[in-house]
Amino acid sequence: MTAQILDGNALAKRIRQRLQGVVAEWKNQGFRPPGLAVILVGDDPASAVYVKGKRRDCEEVGVYSKALHLDAAIDQAELEAHIDDLNADPNIDGILVQSPLSPHHDEDRIIDRILPNKDVDGFHAYNIGCLALRRPTLRSCTPMGVMQMLDHIGTQYKGSHATIIGASNHVGRPMSLELLLAGVTVTTAHKFTTNTEEMARQADILISAVGKPGLVPGDWIKEGATVIDVGITRGDNNNLFGDVEFEAAKERAAWITPVPGGVGPMTRVALLQNTMQAAASHLGISWKAL
Ligand code: GUN
Repeated sequence: MTAQILDGNALAKRIRQRLQGVVAEWKNQGFRPPGLAVILVGDDPASAVYVKGKRRDCEEVGVYSKALHLDAAIDQAELEAHIDDLNADPNIDGILVQSPLSPHHDEDRIIDRILPNKDVDGFHAYNIGCLALRRPTLRSCTPMGVMQMLDHIGTQYKGSHATIIGASNHVGRPMSLELLLAGVTVTTAHKFTTNTEEMARQADILISAVGKPGLVPGDWIKEGATVIDVGITRGDNNNLFGDVEFEAAKERAAWITPVPGGVGPMTRVALLQNTMQAAASHLGISWKAL
């Protein structure tokens, strides 16, 4: 079997076009545009690239964006004061604090400081808790983007088995909650798991979110599986690598995401969807991203 490529760029573009139409319609009805604030702390080059991409996405769709570029040395209290200002800003529906922060920052406290109804990253304990209780609110962007890819290819979730490699707060854990919500039997493998290969070989849906090129050899893929590669590692000359041995895995999977051009654009479009969902709720418009 040779896999079909799950093209995140193409799918994200189609969703952005749909969102652009929705924002235009809201503006026609006299509503202000949805607003996203992005806080970038320090000068991490990869973060600067991500933030620029987010601003471009907002412009394309008609979402107002505000960027705060803060010095890496800013102290915790000052950073929290910026979040308080944005929490109180009536033109801002979503707040994203780009990670990584500086080592002296307490990232959990920063996320806790954002109002849950402006937490468009979907990282706040309240929003993750709601997802765990099958009452999704603002959902974590990467898992939300992955679910839309799986929906797009007509995945039959119920009774299928997913293995997720990686148990991070931002991807692995909320990914397992999304799949549970969809009726999937979920295994999460992590750094203490001793039989990751065995777990991977059983997976109808295999998701790797570790950031280690070559972690998943092609022969671990079950014939006909869907393979979602969330890992992104930047090489010496700035090219990107996923976790999965793509060429070999492609010969066994039914569907596979490339890196780059797979999950990344879907994470970005989920951020726009969350910003619009937050705006709809703040403006009293009946609209749901998913
Ligand atoms: N750093 C890398 N990806 C992300 C993301 O999706 N959200 C935030 N807040 N920081 C990131």
